[in-house]
Amino acid sequence: MSQASNPIRYDRDGAVAIITIANPPVNALGQAVRQGLWEAIDRFDADADARIALIVGDGNLFLGGADITEFGKPPVEPYLPDLCTRIEDATKPVVAAVHGPALGGGCEIALGAHYRLAVSGARFGFPEVALGLIPGAGGSQRMPRLTGVGPALDAMCSGAPLSAEKALKIGLIDRLVEGDPRAEGLAYAQELLAQSAPTRRTGALPAPAHDADLFASARKSWAAKSRGQVAPLRAIDAVEASCTLPLQEGIREERRLFLELMETPQRAGMIHAFFNDRKVAKLPELQGIAARSLDHVGVIGGGTMGAGIATACLLRGLTVTLIEQDDAGLDRARQTITGNLDAAVKRGKLADSAPALARLSLATDYAALADADLAIEAVFENMDVKKQVFGCLDAVMKPGAILATNTSYLDVNEIAQATSRPGDVIGLHFFSPAHVMKLLEVVVADQTAPEVTATAFALAKRLGKTAVKAGVCDGFIGNRILATYRAAADRMILAGTSPWQIDEAIRAFGLPMGPFEMSDLAGLDIGYMTRQRKAATRDPRDIVPTWADEMYHRGWLGRKSGSGYYCYGEGSPTPNLEVQPLIDAARGDQSQQVLEPEQIQRRYMAAMVNEAAKVLEDGIAARPLDIDVTLLYGYGFPRWRGGPMLWADREGLPGLLADIQDWAREDPWFWTPAPLLERLVAEGKTFGDLNEGAA
Ligand code: COA
Repeated sequence: MSQASNPIRYDRDGAVAIITIANPPVNALGQAVRQGLWEAIDRFDADADARIALIVGDGNLFLGGADITEFGKPPVEPYLPDLCTRIEDATKPVVAAVHGPALGGGCEIALGAHYRLAVSGARFGFPEVALGLIPGAGGSQRMPRLTGVGPALDAMCSGAPLSAEKALKIGLIDRLVEGDPRAEGLAYAQELLAQSAPTRRTGALPAPAHDADLFASARKSWAAKSRGQVAPLRAIDAVEASCTLPLQEGIREERRLFLELMETPQRAGMIHAFFNDRKVAKLPELQGIAARSLDHVGVIGGGTMGAGIATACLLRGLTVTLIEQDDAGLDRARQTITGNLDAAVKRGKLADSAPALARLSLATDYAALADADLAIEAVFENMDVKKQVFGCLDAVMKPGAILATNTSYLDVNEIAQATSRPGDVIGLHFFSPAHVMKLLEVVVADQTAPEVTATAFALAKRLGKTAVKAGVCDGFIGNRILATYRAAADRMILAGTSPWQIDEAIRAFGLPMGPFEMSDLAGLDIGYMTRQRKAATRDPRDIVPTWADEMYHRGWLGRKSGSGYYCYGEGSPTPNLEVQPLIDAARGDQSQQVLEPEQIQRRYMAAMVNEAAKVLEDGIAARPLDIDVTLLYGYGFPRWRGGPMLWADREGLPGLLADIQDWAREDPWFWTPAPLLERLVAEGKTFGDLNEGAA
């Protein structure tokens, strides 16, 4: 390997060999890095003038972990577990100086070293579970030997990173300093040299005590929390091996579990999601387009949504002016926002709510927005009301300010026409609670200027949200698809399956809730209002869930009224069997077809995918990956399945289309196959191919 292409540098400063990893952007441990590190350790061992080695990362971080692009391909030597052991086996002491993240394989390299120093701001962690994996290079064997089993289980099952302070406290690192990692690492190495510090191999430490009860309770708790995802449970198996097996056998067992997970669809789903998280914000039309500056945000409407949006902005350091109609409205808004911020403090998301509240001002006069860079309207969902609000915004806001609507279905083009500056108008569809939910649909109208869209994506990033670009239609990407799979569930009820069977099957698929539990949570009045709104334009072939209308009329509004599809009281909700006669009445003499859980899941998913294909064809979503991300972040779709479009590709589009065609024989209107789906099948292509084409 030529020096120029070698991502590892070997220098000496006196008796200290300095091994620097320089593999931008994140120092991932690809083959060349592993090979280079191996050779550097060999060279250090052979270098008579070097008495101690320092491993340090170039750029913003130590090591970002294994190279994820290599996953799913045949492994290439040297393997990471062998490299960590090679470092540990060095005949002279090795120090790791960590700055920024040391994740996964990066943390394992640090554990292979004999001494660990971190500069403040460093983070240690095992994010492998977020990729459907477990540590695969000795992490699950070495960390428990250093810290005990508890912290290792927490880190490896949750994937959550540890601060340098925490790492010091639990014994993962030896020293925490301020400053430059190379300079501090060098000073530490020289100090160790002066003390004639020996090699100190983590793997030589005694195995941690085996507490069977601790593992049993970890299994129980993670089985419930991980909702079908297997990696956290395999992480527990691996950590348990550290208690019962000698180091090298434990490492082999960990590797076996790791390679087993590598072959699973869950791993493929999670890695699909990882790369989609990054691709979703990369829009070809925004290349080179600068966002406008954004510091002061106006929010119109202080209800749950407006207050949530204001909270989201305050949490991330923005200045907010909230407009309400009267003082009573302002009082309510302030109370909600204060409550949200206090809850964020309790959850550890915010140190102190006072500075955030100090950035909030409240007003009844739109003139208070004269200076705002962006206003987000979150008032009642009615076109006339929205137009009036936009008229006021148009009158007071400065040139270049952005006028955004949080509507979840109204025509953003029509709203834009109520202003003299449609190029500055955009939809920002937050999901409730807006300060918690990650998804932001950025609804780009016909005349929205590119820098306005770029600013919306910049705002999402600032708010810690995932933005997806959507086009204008009723429901945009997410709610339009939801309306269809929700309708599929209603059709299954009419045909003979119960709402409770459907909910159970959908939970078993990996969603946190079934559609009817979700309706109860949202409030059955919401669905009723939507049906009323759509009544005038409804196709006569569409069905109306008359039982749900009746539930509304009886005041069964779901959780908030104590009963809906379920009864809510003490303990877990129970099915509300009084709904059954209402359903029976709606069914009339239709045949009773009780579907099996797998059949329920397939119909539900097929409806989702078929509508998603129509959303793509209509240009409402630009790429299948935008739909996958929308469902993951806004609708609780299990991350380990990657998203509905990946699910469809993995199931096989021809079989899915055949099923849809089959169901269409009985219900041709609802199950009309999406032309795009038919075309993909005819051409032997997948949704994934469309992602490639658009990337
Ligand atoms: N392997 C390969 N590529 C990686 C990578 C990895 N481990 N980690 C990040 N990248 C890529 C990203 O895809 C992105 O590529 P792009 O610019 O072509 O889109 C680029 O590196 C920058 O990543 P990004 O996440 O945008 O940078 P960041 O500075 O915000 O965050 C990390 C850096 C390391 C914290 C973050 O990338 C991360 O969490 N990576 C995953 C770490 C991991 O899971 N490692 C364990 C593997 S077992």
